[in-house]
Amino acid sequence: MSTDASTSSRKRSKWDGDDSEKSPQLRIAKKKAKVKTIEVSGSASQTKPATRWGHSVYVPPRTMHPPIMPSRSVYCHERLNQIEEGSYGVVFRARDKETGEIVALKKLKLDEEKNGFPITALREINALMLCRHENVVGIREVVVGDTLTQVFVVMDFIEHDLKTLLTVMPSPFLQSEIKTLMLQLLSAVAHCHTNWILHRDLKTSNLLMNNRGTIKVADFGLARRYGDPVGVGGMTQLVVTLWYRAPEILLGAKTYSTAIDMWSVGCIFAELILKEPLFQTKNETEMLQMIFKLLGPPTNNSWPDYSSLPLAKTMTLPSPQPHQFRSKFPHLTAAGLDLLMSFLTYDPERRISAEEALQHSYFSEPPLPKHPDLFGSFPSAAAGEKRRKPFSSPSAPVRAADYKLLTEFDIP
Ligand SMILES: Nc1ncnc2c1ncn2[C@@H]1O[C@H](COP(=O)(O)OP(=O)(O)O)[C@@H](O)[C@H]1O
Ligand SMILES: [Mg+2]
Repeated sequence: MSTDASTSSRKRSKWDGDDSEKSPQLRIAKKKAKVKTIEVSGSASQTKPATRWGHSVYVPPRTMHPPIMPSRSVYCHERLNQIEEGSYGVVFRARDKETGEIVALKKLKLDEEKNGFPITALREINALMLCRHENVVGIREVVVGDTLTQVFVVMDFIEHDLKTLLTVMPSPFLQSEIKTLMLQLLSAVAHCHTNWILHRDLKTSNLLMNNRGTIKVADFGLARRYGDPVGVGGMTQLVVTLWYRAPEILLGAKTYSTAIDMWSVGCIFAELILKEPLFQTKNETEMLQMIFKLLGPPTNNSWPDYSSLPLAKTMTLPSPQPHQFRSKFPHLTAAGLDLLMSFLTYDPERRISAEEALQHSYFSEPPLPKHPDLFGSFPSAAAGEKRRKPFSSPSAPVRAADYKLLTEFDIP
């Protein structure tokens, strides 16, 4: 008799019979006898094993493994219109021919890949699957075209992205609406961070919004797992679109964490209030100067690690001056201002986390967050209901660092 657990349980599942016996040895001896019976008689009907849910009682219930199936063809979808040609892929609106559902198909740019399936694409798919949440765009499947370079991520179709919406809306969102949007964004970001995922490209064009007042974080193309040991070269600084990039990355920090996403959340919060991006600059130096101007230059007190950052020595700090938040956001309450300053805090160690921000008093003071159902709906540019205005904002850093990123213990 084999003592190997998996082998014996496999045999048991075939020939197990009487459930009433107490001793396992006895059961196995009896089972052996039954094997002989089958061999002699050749009739399986003589040995009907006692089963539980169609399996032997000796075999533990199976966990639910997803079935491994080939990807469906992109031709299962009818192409409706092109939504956007982004920096890394084209996004189409399409109809699933089987179900009639409207979906978004993001074609991954693989044409120039000479080294197989790019890590960025794998990362995007993996992060979307890991971070499933009410406020993260739902990934449905990956479908393929005729050639190896045609791979599409199928997602739920969402009517708007916040960037386009903010440019076509006649007036800014109300405070009650901004609170709802911020709570949803924070809850998605908290969820990603709990799952050890940094988004690394939070900005309004990567936030989708449906006509029922719900935000969905999208574009995980730059996402990576954090908390793993970091490779020799440190983490790449080629992350986050310039206007939303945290000062520690601008100053060349070799490692960074969830706080970089929180800086971007602060920029988004300000953009929702101002109806235009907070920092609109052409390059890194200009960006830092603009930050120093709004927040006042960093001090030993506000950011003790500043002077140890690689690029700090190359910067000339303006003379100390108080921050200019109040004059920039004259209508924001003291609590709103406090929350904004907590996001745009120099020292990443002291910057507010998504979990903490969700508890901030700004969200519990009047006007209270508006129920998503009460949001007005807008014509969807993505559904071709109105002509889109072209983007004038910069794009995410070129994802040329793919192969370098592999050494970062990156996902997957
Ligand atoms: N699921 C979706 N539903 C509707 N529009 C989408 C969806 N995903 C992306 N888009 C549109 O396509 C644009 C580009 O998609 P994104 O995933 O951000 O790609 P890129 O990596 O090129 O920036 C978004 O800004 C948005 O306007
Ligand atoms: Mg994008």
